[in-house]
This record gives sequence, C-alpha cells and structure tokens, in this order.
Amino acid sequence: MSLLPTHERWGSLEGKRVLVRVDFNCPVADVDGVLTVTDDFRIRATLPLFEDLLARGATVVACTHFGRPKGEVVEKYSVAPVRRRLAELCPGVELMENLRFNPGEESNDPAFGASLVEGFDYYINEAFSASHREHASIMIPPTLLPSAAGPNLLREVETLHNLLESPARPFVAIVGGAKVKDKLGIVKVLSEKADTVLVGGGMAYTFEVTQGRTIGGSLFDASYLEVCGELLEGGKIRIPSDAIGLPVGVPFGPGGGPDEVVSFGENIPDDYEGFDIGPNTREAFCAIISNAATILWNGPMGVFEDPRLSAGTEAVARAVAASSAVSVIGGGDSVAAIQGYGLEDQVSFVSTGGGASLEFVELGDLPGLKALRESTK
Ligand code: 3PG
Ligand code: MG
Repeated sequence: MSLLPTHERWGSLEGKRVLVRVDFNCPVADVDGVLTVTDDFRIRATLPLFEDLLARGATVVACTHFGRPKGEVVEKYSVAPVRRRLAELCPGVELMENLRFNPGEESNDPAFGASLVEGFDYYINEAFSASHREHASIMIPPTLLPSAAGPNLLREVETLHNLLESPARPFVAIVGGAKVKDKLGIVKVLSEKADTVLVGGGMAYTFEVTQGRTIGGSLFDASYLEVCGELLEGGKIRIPSDAIGLPVGVPFGPGGGPDEVVSFGENIPDDYEGFDIGPNTREAFCAIISNAATILWNGPMGVFEDPRLSAGTEAVARAVAASSAVSVIGGGDSVAAIQGYGLEDQVSFVSTGGGASLEFVELGDLPGLKALRESTK
C-alpha cells in the first residue's frame, strides 16, 4: 500500500484553519438527567493530534457523526454530550453539530462536502473507524483541500497492515460475535493469513451444524452452512467443543437473570440455547493463545454482558493479556470486554475501529484511505 500523506509537511499553521474529521461516536447514557459520555476512549485517542495542531498555531474544528439520525435533526443525536466531554479534555477545539443531521453526509453529496470545507485551509482524517464509509466528510474534503491522515489513523493502518503482511508466528486469530454473516469475510481472510483461527460466539453454531452437531435453539444461519463447512475443511479453524447456555426463552443479557446456566458437551438439546463457550473450549483456546506470537482478537465468545455468560470472553481476554505476543484487539465488543476487565494496558494495540478494522482486514484498504492517497491538493 502506498503511503498516506501526513500533516508534518505543512510546517507552521499560524493563522490557518484545520478541519479534522474524527469519530466521536461514543456511547452515552443518562446520568442525573444529562446525556453523558460513558466511554471517552475515542476522544482521548484524538487529543495528541489536537494538541499538536494547537501548538502549531492552528484554529482547529472537529466534525463527527454521532449515531444514526438518518439525515434529520434528532435531538438525542446532538453532539452536545461529546462537546461537553471534549471541552473538559481539550478546551480550544470546536466541534461541529452531527454530520448525519444532513442527508448529504451519507449520500456523499459533493455540495455538502464542499460546504464543510468552506473557510478551511487543511483537512485531516483522524477517523479510522469511519473510513469504511463512503460519506461526504470522508470522501469530499481530500478532493478540495491539502489533506492528511491523522496519527491515530496512521497507527491503526500500520498496525493492521503489519499484522497481516508480516506477522510473527504462530499467528492466532480469535473471531467471535453473534452473526456469522458479519464475520465470514474476516474468517476467510484470516484462515489464509493466520496459523489458527479460534471461532466462538453466536457465529460458531453454524459451523457446528456442518459437523452434524445439534445446537438446540442457538443462533444459526442456514444460508452460510456450505461456506462454513468449506472453511472448516481448510484445517485452520477451531470451533468450540462445548457450550454454556440457558433454556430457550428465559431472560438473559446485561445484569443477568434468575435462571441458572446449563453446561453442554458437543450437542445442545432442543429446548436449550448456547450463549458462551464451555470450560473445555476455554482451556483449549487459552492454551493455543498462550502459544501465539501474534494475536488478533475481534468479537466476544458469548453474551459477556450477562455475568452468567461471560466466562469464555473473560478467559480469552485474560489469556490475550497474559500473552507476550503482539496483540491487537478490534471491534467494539472485544474492546469493551478488555477494558471492562481492566486489561487494556496489557495488549499491544486497541483499535478504535469496529466495522472499519473488519473491512480493512478483509479487503486490505478502505474508501477513506484511498481518498487520502488520491488527494492531489
Ligand atoms: C462505529 O461506531 O462503529 C463507527 O463510528 C461507525 O458508525 P456507523 O456504523 O454508524 O457508520
Ligand atoms: Mg458500529
């Protein structure tokens, strides 16, 4: 991949106005009647760039999407809570209102893109996690202004690129999450690049069915049976050998529920549903992880928000943290898990990108990165 342009080349920014596309799509919650950012990871990750630009004399304005208001002004999607947190962390940087309040953002409307850069001298994309979207704020500014990749975006790209192109071996990938359809592309690529791919989470049950196993009422997608079977034949993918679950229909999720979990071996009976990997799988997966020289982890092993169903994800998080391998965590849920267990300092790299890191691993590039490379200003 050819190099992305950086802002170092601009020198002094005294009197210049810089537009920075960030991804401050942070989780928020009602705290005493005020919408409050509950995880400011994405804001904190951007501070070094803001501080550098301010130190060079620039006026800095940031822009972000926030939720999915679908082109309309929807009050609960106002960036106000993010703006408050940003002002605490880095006064002096202005934040525009939610880009997605304008339908031109998601339709990649050149006129909307042009309106964004009016009055600006430079554009920086520091939103790796939004760079898989062909949206106006990502695609249009590089055609109009001298443009650069932000340092955090660069680090994300370099880390994932190196991991895929020259990993220390054994390279162990761990892929989880609910839906097989969302993760099949990455499993396919990783089963070529990695030495072992550990598959857990809801997506694993479709793989299990190809082996003649019964999964009760667990998540399953018949349209991917054939390809899951073919992928398993490649010999690199390991699927769970046991599970933990609940009777079909009982409550589960954040905060737990009244029912006790049940352990299953290879097969899950009709009236039950698997929600986590079982103890044998935990042990087998952790042994493989402890042997790795490179680890990529994307997606939880079970419904880890429910304390009864979190053992698999926690065991994997702890094994990844304990390993001395180069370890990269991507995907909102696995990042939340590793942070929830307080282990984020014990991994090599935590990606800010969920869908973007998946797509980068799968396709080797993103539309927003291409736009920066093709910028001729
Ligand atoms: C994310 O939070 O995953 C990114 O900000 C992208 O958001 P989107 O999926 O709404 O485009
Ligand atoms: Mg997302």
